[in-house]
Amino acid sequence: MPILIETLRTAFAGHLFTDDADKAPFLIDWRGKWTGKALAVVQPDSTEDVAAVVRWCVANDASVVPQGGNTGMSGAATPDESGRAVVISLARMNRIRDVDAINNTMTVDAGCVLQTIQEEAARRDRLFPLSLSAEGSCMIGGNLSTNAGGVGVLRYGNARELCLGLEVVTADGEIWHGLRGLRKDNSGYDLRDLFIGAEGTLGIITAATLKLFPLPRARLCAWATVATVDDALSVLALAQKKVGARLTAFELMSNDCVDLLLEQFPQLRWPTSERSAWYVLIEISDPDSDVNANAALESILEMALESELVSDAAVATNLAQAREFWALRENMGEAQVKAGKNIKHDISVPISKFPSFIKTTNRHIESQFSDARMIVFGHLGDGNLHYNVSPKTGAKGERFTEIEPLVNRIVHDAVIACEGSISAEHGLGVLRRNEALRYKSDVEMKMQRAIKQALDPRGIMNPGKGMGAV
Ligand code: FAD
Ligand code: MLT
Ligand code: ZN
Repeated sequence: MPILIETLRTAFAGHLFTDDADKAPFLIDWRGKWTGKALAVVQPDSTEDVAAVVRWCVANDASVVPQGGNTGMSGAATPDESGRAVVISLARMNRIRDVDAINNTMTVDAGCVLQTIQEEAARRDRLFPLSLSAEGSCMIGGNLSTNAGGVGVLRYGNARELCLGLEVVTADGEIWHGLRGLRKDNSGYDLRDLFIGAEGTLGIITAATLKLFPLPRARLCAWATVATVDDALSVLALAQKKVGARLTAFELMSNDCVDLLLEQFPQLRWPTSERSAWYVLIEISDPDSDVNANAALESILEMALESELVSDAAVATNLAQAREFWALRENMGEAQVKAGKNIKHDISVPISKFPSFIKTTNRHIESQFSDARMIVFGHLGDGNLHYNVSPKTGAKGERFTEIEPLVNRIVHDAVIACEGSISAEHGLGVLRRNEALRYKSDVEMKMQRAIKQALDPRGIMNPGKGMGAV
């Protein structure tokens, strides 16, 4: 049956794009890896408008693809090739609805950019701690739908742990008003937790109530060189013992990462004079002062140097230098995009298993692909690394597309052998949906499918993505 797109114009009051040129930016992911088609792209201004669009989709047998900042890594925000999707971009729903400073909560529209939320919290002398390099463009609805992680998970948890309530438009086009600012609520199944991390396959998040924290007066960081991942873990344990919850980030980068980073961004300065096999970026936050944060960092590094866990270190002495240090870590994603061929993995294992996981997997890949170099970096403190595989400098990497499935298999089999996860923070999207099927038990799949069937019986929500596809 031909779809009468004109009736969509009358179904809701917001912006509607049907011309190819207007739709184009919404039909491709930011890396240009996935493209799709859509009947239309809509930008509603209100929750009622989102509901009206979904009801139109139900009535016209169209599917729905929610989209936030379109910064996702797994192709989950790009419509499929069928051309039957309506992309719902939340970009115009970007109001801060309410800040309750006593309850330490903020309620925001789903299209609020993460950085805007962080800045609003800071204006109220509070911290919203979700932090990732895409924070200038990703939106909170996307962050919650991917259950984003980033660099603050070690101390504050991932997006799920930072959200208390949701407002959702269901797959029937109804509105669930679940914006509760409660830290305790055992009055039934946790619907909020179903929509978080669902990659838009169960409903559309239109607003969220978020947790706020006291704003630390000081955040300081240091880079340190370590010889092994075992040593990095010992430094982590030492830092946790010494400063407890004041340790707010603990990131790891291999020397190959640094080579690649400096190849792509030669203007960046590396802070330590010595080079080593591995580096850690340690961040300390202090509720009172820079002096305290500095003293805490110095004492960790002194002990680590004395016990020969660290061979060289540099402490950022002011905010500008701290930004420079973080830029080294934050530009890793971009450096890989610039470098070209790259097989990405977003894995988690219990941190105690990382040293043997990395050694064994490196050996396995090197034995099969002599041109490969491992670009291993990420959030060591919370057990999530990006174990990426690129061609060595100078190697053309012609076979890289061909070997991707084999490399994925080696890496993910090793992850599962360590009782880990093949998607720690980026979601399954289209990138990992089929592999997930391979690694999940029948019992788990039965429950996953039952949830999808219960909340989206027509299968209209973001078809072909994540758990909704299998
Ligand atoms: P989109 O890409 O637009 O969408 C992602 C998914 O959420 C899709 O399935 C989409 O359908 C769904 N969705 C979007 N909005 C809604 C909504 N309102 N309701 C229902 N479903 C919705 N991720 C991390 O976790 N940690 C990192 O450290 C990190 N670093 C990054 C660094 C860079 C440079 C870049 C480009 C990305 C990074 N990412 C990281 C990935 C990405 O930024 C996150 O996944 C982010 O949470 C996606 O938000 P978004 O608004 O761009 O969502
Ligand atoms: C990161 O931690 O920098 C991101 O998750 C991006 C990436 O994997 O490239
Ligand atoms: Zn990451």
